[in-house]
Amino acid sequence: MPGFGRHRLPDWRLAPKVAYLNHGTVGATPRRVLARQDKLRKKMERAPSAFLLREVVPMVGASAGEPGKLRAAAAEVAAFVGAPAGELALVTNVTAGINAALRSLRFSPGDEILMLDHCYGAIANAARAIAGPLGATLIIATLPVPVTDPAEVIAAVEAALTPRTRLAILDHITASSALVLPIAELTRRCQARGVTVIVDGAHAPGAIPLDVAAIGADFYAANLHKWAWAPRSCGFLHARPERHAGLHGAIVSWGMDAGMLAEFEWPGTFDPTPMLAAVEGPGDAARRGRGRGADLRSRARAARPGPPGRRAGRDRARAGDHGRHDGRGGAAGAVRPRRRGQRAAPRSPVPRPSRRGQPGGPR
Ligand SMILES: Cc1ncc(COP(=O)(O)O)c(C=O)c1O
Repeated sequence: MPGFGRHRLPDWRLAPKVAYLNHGTVGATPRRVLARQDKLRKKMERAPSAFLLREVVPMVGASAGEPGKLRAAAAEVAAFVGAPAGELALVTNVTAGINAALRSLRFSPGDEILMLDHCYGAIANAARAIAGPLGATLIIATLPVPVTDPAEVIAAVEAALTPRTRLAILDHITASSALVLPIAELTRRCQARGVTVIVDGAHAPGAIPLDVAAIGADFYAANLHKWAWAPRSCGFLHARPERHAGLHGAIVSWGMDAGMLAEFEWPGTFDPTPMLAAVEGPGDAARRGRGRGADLRSRARAARPGPPGRRAGRDRARAGDHGRHDGRGGAAGAVRPRRRGQRAAPRSPVPRPSRRGQPGGPR
């Protein structure tokens, strides 16, 4: 069944009378992925402890120490997003990933954390809650409106960097304005000035080709339960190897001090079926064309080294051109400005941070 649109409705459990447009906030999951999750749930309920503690995260019994199903799923996600498997952990959502990254950093009074005025309010809150009590201040860089060139974004960020900037939390695709930012270049410029970079990639997986390693941020966190059509709750955190020391899961549990992968694998008793089913994906990439919305498995395969044609998306991403992916011009360009007459994207469901310099952060 080619294309997309109303005739694809049977692929989803959405109410027929609802025109569902809010995948950016709460993504909907296709029937095929939900069916996979249902199967996993049934299996889990037949023998909960064997499933969870031996198969999924081998914590007890003969298989202890062996990688389990969760690690295998994480490895597939890593291939899908262009990250080494040993540097990526599955998390319940991007908020959890960024909270963990923030807690691993040390802040001193006078340190500045740079964010954009298009940032997601909950993430600004996390920065304020974690770094604020240590004396760090949130600085909000204002992007020009409308943005017509990636260079304007780079200039706005550079203008807001000061010798006190310690961390930049940058969006890959902004929530309220749907701009695809020149994230690799922004990361490079910040790191060149000694600034640690956390990328909020909540909207990137499944929406645009992604090469996390090529972006080179210290941390890259994202959701799979938005545009990659994974069941809720499923996201990931990537951390460069030099960032693993002192990095704990947002919830500290049995994996403490056992390395990044173990830190995140068991956040207390939980339902891993969204993460295990995530690799099922929607699976109709070929029919929809151009790889957009591809299922994780076929996208991961396409991302592996192979004939040049299959590597094209990855190579473009490696060139730092993360927004320029669609041969037809859709979402082309590192910044995607609103067209004249186009209505503004809906505002974030949470309040936007105010501009600059309040003690401990915005709002
Ligand atoms: C840019 C951005 N960051 C973070 C989040 C938070 O996502 P989650 O609630 O799944 O952690 C969202 C949610 O819409 C978002 O748009």
